[in-house]
Amino acid sequence: YMGAEALPRKNSHGIELSDPQAVGPLLEELAKQRGKHFLGGPIVNGVMGKAEEPVYNPANGEVIGHTANTDKHLIEQAYASAIEAQIGWDRLGGNERATILDRIADFYEKKANELAAIICLEAGRTLNDGISEVREAVDFCRYYANAARQHFSEPTELPGPTGEQNQLYLGGRGVFVAISPWNFPLAIFTGQVVAALAAGNTVLAKPAEQTPIIAAHAVRLMLDAGVPAKVLHLITGTGAAVGKLLIEDPRLGGVAFTGSTETARLINQQLAEKEGPIVPLIAETGGQNVMIVDSTALPEQVVDDVIQSAFLSAGQRCSALRILCVQDVIADNLLNMLKGACEELTLGDPGKLATDIGPVIDGKALNLLEAHRERMDKEGKPLFTFDKDKKPGKGTFFGPQVVEIEDFSVLKREVFGPFLHVVRFKAEELEDVIRRINATGYGLTFGLHSRIEGRADAVFKRVNVGNCYVNRDMVGAVVGVNPFGGQGLSGTGFKAGGPHYLFRFATEKTKTINT
Ligand code: SER
Repeated sequence: YMGAEALPRKNSHGIELSDPQAVGPLLEELAKQRGKHFLGGPIVNGVMGKAEEPVYNPANGEVIGHTANTDKHLIEQAYASAIEAQIGWDRLGGNERATILDRIADFYEKKANELAAIICLEAGRTLNDGISEVREAVDFCRYYANAARQHFSEPTELPGPTGEQNQLYLGGRGVFVAISPWNFPLAIFTGQVVAALAAGNTVLAKPAEQTPIIAAHAVRLMLDAGVPAKVLHLITGTGAAVGKLLIEDPRLGGVAFTGSTETARLINQQLAEKEGPIVPLIAETGGQNVMIVDSTALPEQVVDDVIQSAFLSAGQRCSALRILCVQDVIADNLLNMLKGACEELTLGDPGKLATDIGPVIDGKALNLLEAHRERMDKEGKPLFTFDKDKKPGKGTFFGPQVVEIEDFSVLKREVFGPFLHVVRFKAEELEDVIRRINATGYGLTFGLHSRIEGRADAVFKRVNVGNCYVNRDMVGAVVGVNPFGGQGLSGTGFKAGGPHYLFRFATEKTKTINT
């Protein structure tokens, strides 16, 4: 079903943050959640295990709760239950599973403010980002629910010679391990889990070590909505402590992973060496995302879209803009305007509505960004450096930066934060810019600002990326509208929130009967 969705569905609504009536309950909820002590330990067979490791609020360094590295015996229990429960969950069929997924979406919507507040406290995301994320999570549930109804309920009848019946069945692959990142601690966590569940798998979900609390909330809501306790288990902890145990188990049926390209490679290696079946890895990884702005672009619009794409969400999106390529004849003017816009950005408490940019996730992320800035101070030409005096005291804050560089090759790896690199190009160099984009090996998002007829199509055909955005920002893919995911070093596909995603979680069986 490549075209419009086969079954009716609407994406969920957000709230208007400039409307005091709408925003009041959200702020009240944040005040209520602030100061609470949360538990985000493992949940195996519906029971939460010990949680003794602190979890920090990146905006102020305060401990907001506790988590744990799930111990070996609990992981064993989770695997044993998940294996036992998988056949029944698969046989339940797509329609029944979809009803449960729709109920998860309803429960998330009812708790939208609470979930957004916890995302803000645990991941340092702004309230706006938190609300958008809840919406995305809800949309994933309903979208994959419909895909389960459509593809996992009845077999597809196939043609055959007279006297022969052929049918194609889709079913779950077994136990899926879902490893999700801290930058979308609810949406990506939920998207992976519900996709695997929709296709008939049982799931061991490992959230990022920085964001176990929102994951524990999500799992509780999923269990309340009717996912059996043996079908879904939460395995908290670091990649080093629990990731390897999960991946190396011969009972593993597949892995969904979102995170760095390096970790995806490591998982691939571990999968290659483990005993048991050969299983798929669905990986969504990093990017070296470029926007090309030619001399026909509208500068005001470009500036808005650059700010949105490079700096909001503290640049902590895999889709975020990292390299802005500007045609030389408009570069000085455009960069001046961009500088002006950067000066207006507010860095600070993500729980305040006026805040544009919250903290980065932790001290390690901050150190990497500081080190990159030091390097760029020497190797590049700084165009905008955030005023240190405007930096909030506590928390892992990093102000937006703009630096001009000679060429892409200055960047060795993805810089995950509000750090924009600028490269100038001449009109005749456009082809070469595209060649250099492809030569990075990454292929996630790409932006083009141009009003030259035919250029969008021409560039789209040449550039090896997953999501190409023309004359707009390049973040915030919408489920069912902008299926999201890359190629090359950026991931394996299929795209999340797209029509083929569930097939990667499934196994196919053909039944041929001589009647
Ligand atoms: N899906 C997100 C976006 O489009 C990135 O992870 O921005």
